[in-house]
Amino acid sequence: MTIIDGKKVSASVKEQVAEETKKLKEQGIVPGLAVILVGDDPASRVYVNNKKKACELVGFKSEEYALPATTTQEELLSLVRDLNERKDINGILCQLPLPKGLDENAVIEAISPMKDVDAFHKQNVGRIMLGDYDFLPCTPAGIMEMLHAYGISVEGKRCVVIGRSNIVGKPMAMLLLHENGTVTICHSRTKNLAEITREAEILVAAVGRAKFVTADMVGDGAVVIDVGMNRDENGKLCGDVDFENVKDKCSYITPVPGGVGPMTIATLMKNTLKAAKLQNF
Ligand code: GUN
Repeated sequence: MTIIDGKKVSASVKEQVAEETKKLKEQGIVPGLAVILVGDDPASRVYVNNKKKACELVGFKSEEYALPATTTQEELLSLVRDLNERKDINGILCQLPLPKGLDENAVIEAISPMKDVDAFHKQNVGRIMLGDYDFLPCTPAGIMEMLHAYGISVEGKRCVVIGRSNIVGKPMAMLLLHENGTVTICHSRTKNLAEITREAEILVAAVGRAKFVTADMVGDGAVVIDVGMNRDENGKLCGDVDFENVKDKCSYITPVPGGVGPMTIATLMKNTLKAAKLQNF
């Protein structure tokens, strides 16, 4: 059993981005990312801080817009429109979820597709479906990169994704399909879930429930990817997979923390670099 080291793979991706950024700077171009955070969700705060730190590391300019939970839809849209017009901002990211009362879809659609480094805009989602895209969503693309780094092929494999969110589950299934996996998406209404997940050669858990995937749900030799970021009964950070009991059945498994999370941020850096190139050349 191999524990996949997301930190290590992420560091090497960020190193590549930093190198390319250095070259861009010689041509007078500094990639810029604007991160919008509305409200005071503590998890979102941590994610945004990590994104800012990564920007510093690779040499990007980053701007944070921390807005109160009382921000109106119009104020938020007005900020996005201003950022769309800025030459020095190449990527715009609005951390989700937004506080109640704000319309996430309207905000996503307001972001210029060229600056949509999350790849959440319907134009980018459609392009991914057709296999003709500039940006891939950060978490699923980060997972694919991690599989590549460990030489894990998807070709012809039975892949099971648990979760059908627009951010992870659905695009994850699409990226596995692009690499010729045979993909099943499971969700809260799926019957006989364990029967399906046990057949998976590659199992991706994106449920949002602590230790949801138990040992009886995992087949021998499976590759298990844990997208979860939860607190267990003792308040300790844990994934969607019951790591301690599942790990010995796996050929590969990602830990939480130190697995998928760092890869999400590494992909964000790649996307922002790409946005800067697309907007300047
Ligand atoms: N919330 C959880 N994951 C993400 C992400 O990848 N991007 C944004 N903007 N918000 C998120």
